[in-house]
Amino acid sequence: MTTDKAYLKINNQEVELPVETGTEGEQAIDIKTLRASTGGIVTVDPGYKNTASTRSKITYLNGEAGILRYRGYPIEELADKSTFTEVAYLLIYGELPDKKTFDKFVADIKDKSFVNEEMKNIIDGFPRSAHPMGILSSLTGAMTAFYRDVTDISNKEVLYNTIVRTLGKFPILGAWAMRKRNGWPLTYADSRLSYVGNILKMMFEKPMEPYQVNPVAERALDKLLILHADHEQNCSTSTVRLIGSSHAGLYASISGGVSALWGPLHGGANQAVLEMLEQIRADGGNVKKYIDKAKDKNDPFRLMGFGHRVYKNFDPRARIIKKSADEVLAELGVDDPLLDIAKELEQAALNDEYFQARKLYPNVDFYSGIIYRALGIPVEMFTVMFAIGRLPGWIAQWKEMRENKEPIGRPRQLYVGPAERHYVPMENRK
Ligand code: CMC
Repeated sequence: MTTDKAYLKINNQEVELPVETGTEGEQAIDIKTLRASTGGIVTVDPGYKNTASTRSKITYLNGEAGILRYRGYPIEELADKSTFTEVAYLLIYGELPDKKTFDKFVADIKDKSFVNEEMKNIIDGFPRSAHPMGILSSLTGAMTAFYRDVTDISNKEVLYNTIVRTLGKFPILGAWAMRKRNGWPLTYADSRLSYVGNILKMMFEKPMEPYQVNPVAERALDKLLILHADHEQNCSTSTVRLIGSSHAGLYASISGGVSALWGPLHGGANQAVLEMLEQIRADGGNVKKYIDKAKDKNDPFRLMGFGHRVYKNFDPRARIIKKSADEVLAELGVDDPLLDIAKELEQAALNDEYFQARKLYPNVDFYSGIIYRALGIPVEMFTVMFAIGRLPGWIAQWKEMRENKEPIGRPRQLYVGPAERHYVPMENRK
């Protein structure tokens, strides 16, 4: 039985709180009035494990059932039938576009697919050893200096132009981060190619020969980007929304999102998975040893690419990626021993009581790196690919937050530090 009221008994007082029901029947207690009606009582929820920070119409995720939908469309259908650019439009504007709207969207992104030459001066300042995610975050922030960032969203045309500009330029910055590392000249998109074809071209084109986009690689990357395009209120998306809630601009907010994504517990896990698989191979392929390490509470090692805050079942994206990894490697004629190690590791974990009891399953990052590797993408670029994929989600969530007129994000805390005390001159301190 569902109810539309919750009652909280505290300090001899009963507080009535409204309960809201979402589209799929999930319930949430609205605690908006809690402080006012209790004289200042707040809730504590580190990591927001029980807190819905917003009401959103963008992505539905059911971690128990392993369901992921963008704007109501199952991820499996979108990965199979749509394209990344169409999914970007869907996420940002809420509906699948008609042909005219979509053609304009694609043309407008292409029209913005170049970057101010002076931004190359910033890249010049980085050492070649810089991590591409650090470069990408900095260059995204630097866009605020070269292009008008949008802080007032009331002008729909300015907002639209900022969105297509961001979609057009962001992959160039990502590709440049890789070219800097290689010491290669910085290049631009070619408007005859698709969005994803251009990402491949900008990463791999050598100065002395024309680049031919491999359609197998193009489709494989397109699918991966679709799978990464949004994942509701994850760490980087919440960061983007939080920064934007102060009415900072879109580029400034996304720059923060890139930094949040970089961490190994979030998007950086795809790099960490590959490094872990390499380590297991170098260590003689002893999968059991690493399963044991992951279970050992005195060992900080975690099985990277396993577990998820929300999924307590198979991550539906991991299922699609695993199948895709087999197909792509076969089509490209790549035989990667790391894929065999990954499959062995997955089976060992799934059959292990520790992982079963904690409902730890492979997540999106477990197999994605195998595909990136087969496409020739260097390990340090894996999280950049994730960022390029997540960009439409960040934009959509930022836009929704502003259009909903959400208040500035400003959590409370429970202070547990020293009570009032008084300054002691240094000579009197013990
Ligand atoms: N290996 C070993 N044990 C694990 C793992 C793992 N990968 N993940 C969770 N656990 C254990 C954890 O030690 C804890 O055990 P206990 O109850 O005995 O203390 C239990 O499972 C619950 O873990 P938690 O850390 O409280 O769960 P969380 O929701 O805070 O963390 C997570 C989720 C994704 C950060 C975590 O599972 C993890 O660190 N996974 C490895 C990193 C990874 O693959 N991240 C990518 C996430 S998916 C893509 C994305 O978000 O970008």
